[in-house]
Amino acid sequence: MLRHFLVPGDLSREEYRTLLRLAETLAADEAQFRDILRGRVLASLFFEPSTRTRLSFEAAMARLGGTTIHLGAQEVSSLAKGESLEDTIRILEGYSDLAVIRSREEYLPQHLSEVVENLPVINAGDGTHAHPTQTLADILTIHQAHGKFSGLHIGLCGDLKFGRTVYSLLEFMDVEENRYSFIAPEDLQVPEEFASKLHNPHQCRGSLEEVIGDLDVLYMTRVQRERFGAGEEHHSPFVLNGKILEGAKENLAILHPLPRVHEIAVDVDEDPRALYFRQAKNGMIMRMALILFLLNEKEGGIL
Ligand code: NCD
Repeated sequence: MLRHFLVPGDLSREEYRTLLRLAETLAADEAQFRDILRGRVLASLFFEPSTRTRLSFEAAMARLGGTTIHLGAQEVSSLAKGESLEDTIRILEGYSDLAVIRSREEYLPQHLSEVVENLPVINAGDGTHAHPTQTLADILTIHQAHGKFSGLHIGLCGDLKFGRTVYSLLEFMDVEENRYSFIAPEDLQVPEEFASKLHNPHQCRGSLEEVIGDLDVLYMTRVQRERFGAGEEHHSPFVLNGKILEGAKENLAILHPLPRVHEIAVDVDEDPRALYFRQAKNGMIMRMALILFLLNEKEGGIL
């Protein structure tokens, strides 16, 4: 059956468990999977800057024996000649087995998934809306640290308004019983419209210090300057450093989707609770698991 991965809710809890198990197997014995996707092609369409997501998808495909083709920058494809994205994705459907799309426009990956007939589409981030494969990286990291997705006090800090990773992580976490602290300047707080739909209790906080001692997960984010309107300015004063961490729990999991700008001081990097570099690697492993899962759903016989 054709399946897409556009928002965290596209996978059931059972399917998340399958992906987490698969990721564990992949991490333990990657050699077993080296040729599994030989001859398979991933189409990669990135209309926004990306390092981790783009390269981890490409690395994931290569490590499974497959290949990636890139549409490239707008100037080098026929989009520059006025070809529509709808036509482009139909052409790529003939060339590839699945597609990964990142766009500035919200819901573009979803729209293109409705144009194709037999091409699984993965949302690699659409505007401020969603970034479900970042959530895969986040939850594997949380699972490694805490062994569960419930009963956690999760602090989210920085730009909670324009950051799509925050919305997707909360969408996943809100299915379980958790608590949230939103540490952000007022103009970068989680919009009320979203916060009011959360099922778990949440509180807005004015500093990291007032809450750090009680957190199980701290999800730091950068200010998403590129999403501001013309003339719009926002700043976040919150910087995590070694001094603030003195008051934190031993098993606090510090996450950041990266790139970091200056919201985590480099002296935190050596702290065993700093998991963001592992999180980036986890992103590749979970993307390997996702690719295998979606191709197996489409064709069977892969897993
Ligand atoms: C995130 C994104 O693109 O939304 N980056 C990523 O995929 N790791 C977060 C960000 O850009 O701040």
